[in-house]
Amino acid sequence: MSHGFDTLAIHAGQDPEARTGAVIPPIYQTSTYAQDAVGAPRQGYEYSRSGNPTRDALQECLAALEGGPVGLAFASGLAAEDTLLRAACKPGDHVVIPDDAYGGTYRLFAKVAERWGLAYTPAKVSDVDAVRAAIRPGVTRIVWVETPTNPLLGIADIAALAAVAHDAGALLVVDNTFASPYLQQPLALGADVVVHSTTKYVGGHSDVVGGALVAADRGLGEELRFHQNAMGAVNGPFDAWLTLRGIKTLGVRMDRHCDNAERIAAYLDGHAKVGQVIYPGLPSHPGHEVAAKQMRRFGGMISFRAAGGEEHAVEICNQAKLFVLAESLGGVESLIEHPGRMTHASVAGSPLEVPGDLVRLSVGIETVDDLLADLEQALG
Ligand SMILES: Cc1ncc(COP(=O)(O)O)c(C=O)c1O
Repeated sequence: MSHGFDTLAIHAGQDPEARTGAVIPPIYQTSTYAQDAVGAPRQGYEYSRSGNPTRDALQECLAALEGGPVGLAFASGLAAEDTLLRAACKPGDHVVIPDDAYGGTYRLFAKVAERWGLAYTPAKVSDVDAVRAAIRPGVTRIVWVETPTNPLLGIADIAALAAVAHDAGALLVVDNTFASPYLQQPLALGADVVVHSTTKYVGGHSDVVGGALVAADRGLGEELRFHQNAMGAVNGPFDAWLTLRGIKTLGVRMDRHCDNAERIAAYLDGHAKVGQVIYPGLPSHPGHEVAAKQMRRFGGMISFRAAGGEEHAVEICNQAKLFVLAESLGGVESLIEHPGRMTHASVAGSPLEVPGDLVRLSVGIETVDDLLADLEQALG
């Protein structure tokens, strides 16, 4: 029997524990497991890098939420990305990446993977023809997209890009961190692998770092599982437990993030102290129609250009009080940051450099009138 998203978030992989009936999966804080005889581990558990029941519960839940046969939980989003690259690519392969991506993802390609022989080309993922043109037939192994992108909130048409990637014999990988599986399910639209920084909306409380991969194909999923164990960047039991606890409320949190972000985007749009407001929910956003087609709602992230330029953008970030000045996103509390000098400092001077007057908001689930009042005083 198939269940709705919120039922899966609360129950998938989380049956009451067999021995005691504990309703919440216990934190199996153990590195190893007693075996009944040589070569006879109980229920397959032998060592916690290879398998841990708390991590298994999270992995099963992530797979159910993204609608794939295999879900895997990692130490961080970047650990998940690294494992995927090394499982799916070999030296001499090529990857198309977004020309507007999380700075750490770009750094992984530019400063780490390239040294090991993996070439990459940045392309505008909101432009299907640009992605097609960046593909090197027979050499491109992955078309990698974020949607919405970090920090410029570009929208990639997942179904169209799946067709383009598959025509070229490449995989489509979608970083679904900004949308979360509640708002967008890339595998159902044709993507081959979903990536998450579960640090963000999936965990949702800014108290744990983690990453995830969910594969559409069981064979690829098992290949990724092999690499998860062989490379070892696993999610720890307590981190898996915290992430699962966060997941239970993902749907209700996302709806509130969206309610608040819609109000704030409307307020900023047309404000004298604000230049362009970038939010996929605004009809003025060039990706609005694609976003409306593939997302349930438009998410909690807003970027905007300060009318007074870079120094004004920095001043807004410094003046905000309720919006906490901090990197990261997707928690219940609202955050504000200056991407050029903070999260995206690593792309300065690269094709992914972001505008200096850009401010990024991660809109939390506080009382929206308080958030509006804080922005009003911070805008000066
Ligand atoms: C879109 C996106 N992908 C991946 C990552 C990397 O995740 P982590 O910080 O958990 O390694 C981030 C982190 O900010 C991100 O925003």
